[in-house]
Amino acid sequence: MTEKKVELQRGLRDVYIDRTKSSFIDGDIGKLLYRGYNIDDLAENSSFEEVIYLLLYGDLPTRSQLDAFEAELKANRKLPDEILDIIRLIKGAHPMDVLRTAVSALAAYDPDVKDNSTEATLRKGVRLTAQAPTIVAAHARIREGKEPVEPDDSLNQAGNFLHMLFGGTPDPEDARLLDKDFVLHAEHGVNASSFGARVAASTVADLHCAITTGISVLKGPSHGGAAEEVMKMALEIGNEENAEPYVRKLLSEGGRVMGFGHRVYKAVDPRAKHLRSDAKALGERKGQPKWFSILQTVSEVMEPYSRRGICENVDFWSGSIYYLMEIPDDLFISIFTMGRIPGWTSQVIEQFENNILLRPRLLYVGPMDLEYKSIDQRG
Ligand code: ACO
Repeated sequence: MTEKKVELQRGLRDVYIDRTKSSFIDGDIGKLLYRGYNIDDLAENSSFEEVIYLLLYGDLPTRSQLDAFEAELKANRKLPDEILDIIRLIKGAHPMDVLRTAVSALAAYDPDVKDNSTEATLRKGVRLTAQAPTIVAAHARIREGKEPVEPDDSLNQAGNFLHMLFGGTPDPEDARLLDKDFVLHAEHGVNASSFGARVAASTVADLHCAITTGISVLKGPSHGGAAEEVMKMALEIGNEENAEPYVRKLLSEGGRVMGFGHRVYKAVDPRAKHLRSDAKALGERKGQPKWFSILQTVSEVMEPYSRRGICENVDFWSGSIYYLMEIPDDLFISIFTMGRIPGWTSQVIEQFENNILLRPRLLYVGPMDLEYKSIDQRG
């Protein structure tokens, strides 16, 4: 096959690989729907639990459906002791490596592991959604020499995570904000990690394989790792006056401003819009408005780039929100993961229900038909 006969789509840019009912994105106007519902309505009015239900079962729950679903999530929060032992063994690793390893190991304890039916995959998706915060919080405590905190059934996913991370009763406003943050991260088309999860599912591997793949792909700084990098940048900048020279120097050296740019959004990332106002309000509430001011200045310096479609993305503001909640910076991507497991599960089910092996091709550009020499003839 010669280069002329093949139309290369490097990075699969603008390639549609299938149909989906999970989410809709219009990158030109910055519109995001989960199963038909606008992210703006969901972020302002729905809990993460409602959104998990929406993604997994296709519509928003009634009150009684939500009550039963919340009870199911709560009943699945605890981890087998062996998983806690694994976390203790690898406590020095990055939290995403620990989460990926623990999720993978949970396959050994899941009664449905070999069952790829929709019903079993839903059960596993609920279990992994419920277990992920317990893994992350337990690891964060174990590595500090503390004991894991038992889940509190009176709290929702977000509040319970803060409780398991810090102990005690979470600040209700922090818990509400984290709940909204989970809603905003729950699903997002065939981004790199969802694509990874779908590729795993397309081989008819099970949900634990697919979620483990999703976690692996999300970790990179070009994807979910950007939130941590943005906060590192804000800390390095240190104060508002330094922001402009810092960004100009970075750009003049060919660097990228983390938290800016998106493969699909070319005008506005609707998730960033919500988190921007939340980051501002949280900074004021915590008496630390400086991080918002620094990031706001970075954003102003980047303004000319918006004409080229390089705008703030979801990760630009989320890091400062987690930082102000005193969450360690290497946990930021794990929080993204806790929000995204329902989206991955929804897409894995779609993949299973109308499966086709995801197997694109590569255009070979290396040498051809070389003369083979035995090892003694190679000089
Ligand atoms: N800062 C400066 N310039 C940028 C940035 C940025 N953050 N992002 C893209 N550009 C420039 C590139 O240098 C390139 O310029 P050129 O055409 O002059 O070479 C042009 O914009 C296009 O960039 P691509 O890398 O081709 O765009 P792509 O769609 O492949 O990349 C990506 C998207 C990876 C997100 C990119 O914008 C980036 O690296 N951003 C920083 C990391 C980040 O914030 N990631 C989180 C994304 S959101 C999420 O995953 C949840």
